[in-house]
Amino acid sequence: MYRSPSHLPEDTRVKVSDQLNARLADGLDLHSQIKVAHWNIKGPQFAALHPLFETFAVSLAAFNDSIAERAVTLGARAYGTARHVAKASKLPDYPQDTSRDLEHVKLLAERFEKYLDNVRESRSIGDELGDTDTVDLLTSIVTEFEKNAWFLRASLEG
Ligand SMILES: [Fe+2]
Repeated sequence: MYRSPSHLPEDTRVKVSDQLNARLADGLDLHSQIKVAHWNIKGPQFAALHPLFETFAVSLAAFNDSIAERAVTLGARAYGTARHVAKASKLPDYPQDTSRDLEHVKLLAERFEKYLDNVRESRSIGDELGDTDTVDLLTSIVTEFEKNAWFLRASLEG
């Protein structure tokens, strides 16, 4: 571990950084999956969903950056190459031959919910370890991606 401006003890910083790197892998994986959906979507809902998926990707990219930078701030390294992510992500892979609009919505909704479960679990660990700032960051992700998951689920209902 490198020097850190954080006042948390080193063993805490190691545990929190491990969680941050795990969620960085999920987030980078999910970002690539959203872009695949954004590019390949076809069907009557294209006009609404193509740009909506891009807003999800832009938002997630900013959160991924914040997660990586929090890990480095705590004195760790941030791991984020495509090859690392392919091994470390806890999300299911994305079926790249999907084209139908609402099938993409369903696939993304399932993955947003899995991502949220993992972020909430990491947040609980950060909370137990007393890292309020990591908890705040992860809470902002939960709030935003619960809203995004609702957008997707609302598109499937009615
Ligand atoms: Fe685009």
